[in-house]
Amino acid sequence: MNRFQLIEKLIKENNYTSYVEVGVYRGRLFLPLRCKKKIAVDPVMKINWRGRLVWVIKNIYNLNNRYFELTSDEFFKEKAPILFKEKGVDLFFIDGLHTFEASLKDVLNSLKYLDKNGIIVMHDCVPPHQAAATAAPSFHEAERMEIEGWTGQWCGDVWKTIQYLKIKYPEKLEITVLKEDFGLGIIKTKESFLDVKIDSQLFKKLKDLPYNV
Ligand SMILES: C[S@@+](CC[C@H](N)C(=O)[O-])C[C@H]1O[C@@H](n2cnc3c(N)ncnc32)[C@H](O)[C@@H]1O
Repeated sequence: MNRFQLIEKLIKENNYTSYVEVGVYRGRLFLPLRCKKKIAVDPVMKINWRGRLVWVIKNIYNLNNRYFELTSDEFFKEKAPILFKEKGVDLFFIDGLHTFEASLKDVLNSLKYLDKNGIIVMHDCVPPHQAAATAAPSFHEAERMEIEGWTGQWCGDVWKTIQYLKIKYPEKLEITVLKEDFGLGIIKTKESFLDVKIDSQLFKKLKDLPYNV
């Protein structure tokens, strides 16, 4: 099952009406999805006005889309408190910057605004090989490192976020990881989450862990 099939299934099965994608790129996943309220967050949004219009014709669910050309940190700080004041989000898809810190922040921020029956899906939790798991501040910096076995696929060290959440919240979160499509982490809450800070000790412990395929 790939990310599109999984997300479409979750929306259908749970009658979800709101979807937020962090890291949208060209909208390959975002635009074909059928969900009433879709929100796109990406500092370098590669969907221009023409593309947005064409996709309203192809899929009418794009009519109410909202596009935020912001980093996820900016979005969660400036927009989320207003947008999700009345009603939490049903489904977040986290696929922004592929670093441990950024992906962890994205999940913790999403937890704050997740509806109690909502789900967070995180991409890139199972890198296919060690080169794809290279910890770097960006794709280009990972590429520049000329790591042995580099194939142009980059999941970064997002996988550590799953480890962190499993260790930190064994009771509060239910986490499943599908191996398909570079690893799809499915995160559900058993209790509500308030403002959660990163546990710096645990973060440090995991930060330099090597990835074993
Ligand atoms: C792998 S692409 C997303 C692919 C898309 N989700 C899909 O399935 O087709 C990663 C995206 O994350 C975006 N990104 C990078 N840093 C980000 C940040 N701080 N916040 C949100 N998105 C970010 C990049 O601009 C890029 O478009």
